[in-house]
Amino acid sequence: MLLLAIETSCDETAAAVVRDGREVLSSVISSQVAIHAEYGGVVPEIASRKHLEMICPVISQAVGDAGIAMSDIEGVAVTRGPGLSGALLVGFSAAKAIAASRGIPFVGVHHIEGHIFAAFLEQRVEFPFLALVVSGGHTHLYHVEGFGRYTTLGRTIDDAAGEAFDKSAKIMGMPYPGGALIDKRACSGNPDAVRLPRPLMHDGTLKFSFSGLKTAVLQHVAKHPITIPSQDLDDLCASFQQAVCDVLVFKTESAINQSGARHLVVAGGVACNSGLRSRMTQLCHKLQIGLSIPHPSLCGDNAAMLAVPGDYYLSNRLNSPWAQDVTATWDMDSIKELLP
Ligand code: KG4
Ligand code: ZN
Repeated sequence: MLLLAIETSCDETAAAVVRDGREVLSSVISSQVAIHAEYGGVVPEIASRKHLEMICPVISQAVGDAGIAMSDIEGVAVTRGPGLSGALLVGFSAAKAIAASRGIPFVGVHHIEGHIFAAFLEQRVEFPFLALVVSGGHTHLYHVEGFGRYTTLGRTIDDAAGEAFDKSAKIMGMPYPGGALIDKRACSGNPDAVRLPRPLMHDGTLKFSFSGLKTAVLQHVAKHPITIPSQDLDDLCASFQQAVCDVLVFKTESAINQSGARHLVVAGGVACNSGLRSRMTQLCHKLQIGLSIPHPSLCGDNAAMLAVPGDYYLSNRLNSPWAQDVTATWDMDSIKELLP
């Protein structure tokens, strides 16, 4: 099927045209990051208004870049949730309007489901597999048995990994979103320079916790004021990144051992992190299992990733009813209950 995919769950207005859930003909991402950076985080009302402004131009560009006409589109996949309600509504309403006016089906997709299947745009993976999703709102380990069939094995009990990166960067005096900036500075820092905690690492569960790590960064900065740029800042970034990676790698290894998984998919914006990518590569090499971490351009929010599950659902006539609404919170484990 030739699908149009639309994503507006947070601060990126994105649209893509994808054939058969694998061939990306176009992918357009309009980021609002510079606007929200002024406020130190995403302002929901501004995000919705900006999506409203950008949604039509972004969709038109995606169709144009793909070299097709709107009339060639056979279905629409759109993020239904989780995310900011007002932001989600813009993409969801656009998707419904396009589908209704053209007489084609649409399907509302879970944003995290999209992140996981971004890996399939590069290489199909055999089910079942283990997925580690690390983004601004998620730090979750899922056992993935098939499209729509997810079981949460572990999750954060407080901050998500991306949130910890962004909040810690802010404490260090860097602008929002600071994850990529910490990554860059960490490359020239000493990861053993600052002693930081590894929260819940040895508690014997698959739970994550990052809020204590952020507090430890706050306490360190209070005692040792940081200037930008400086070697001290690079050392703190490297030490922080190593602490996050140590916990993510340790818990992922435990989940692999417990589930007997033969393949790991690492997904979400934090999967762009160079330290995490190399540590996960080492882990899977050690355990002799397969690994998929999408190219960084597919790890952050984009629309093409939604077309993979979207194509599966629409090809199997699992389209969404017209009365369906967006949902700001949505548990991935509940999706299997909707399947036949
Ligand atoms: O998946 P994503 O684009 O949006 C959400 O669904 O949340 O993830 C965004 C998160 C932000 O917290 C951002 O700082 C983080 O991913 N991120 C990174 C890197 N690039 C993006 N964190 C660490 N290192 C990076 N290189
Ligand atoms: Zn995301």
